[in-house]
Amino acid sequence: MKNLILLPGFLIIALLAACAGNNTPASSNSPSPSSSTPPASSNPTTPASGEKVSFSVAQSIIQSRCFMCHSGAGARVGVNFDNKDQIKKYAERIKARAVDSKGMPQGNATGMTDAERQTLGTWITQGASLD
Ligand code: HEC
Repeated sequence: MKNLILLPGFLIIALLAACAGNNTPASSNSPSPSSSTPPASSNPTTPASGEKVSFSVAQSIIQSRCFMCHSGAGARVGVNFDNKDQIKKYAERIKARAVDSKGMPQGNATGMTDAERQTLGTWITQGASLD
């Protein structure tokens, strides 16, 4: 019974000792959290949301990332994106293969970026307009 009464006293002493040994103030010279703010994006292939993506932007992405296999006589499975009508005709397939599934470009042989996929997808969801 005596031990049970003494126990709270020991706990208080132990707590005081712990506090005394842990008395160092929090560092006041920690680095400013704003120093690592990244610069505003200026990547031209990433349009601000709501901004219209023009046909010429979409076409230049297709030319640089898809023409390797989808242009001229050697176009894979006969699918070429050589002119406006062809690109328009395949717009939904382009979205399915290069935006939604990312299976195209095959093996990403042409190094297409996610920003370019996003831009292409925006152009198509905006109606794949030819102007
Ligand atoms: C390295 C070669 C290569 C590149 C680059 C490439 N493709 Fe393909 N593509 C193929 C091959 C091979 C096929 C046929 C086999 C298949 O459908 O997976 C094909 C088929 C297709 C088809 C027709 C089949 C369907 O799903 O309707 C579409 C559409 C297509 N590719 C879109 C694209 C787009 C868009 C790009 C550029 C972003 C692209 N491809 C870049 C090789 C390529």
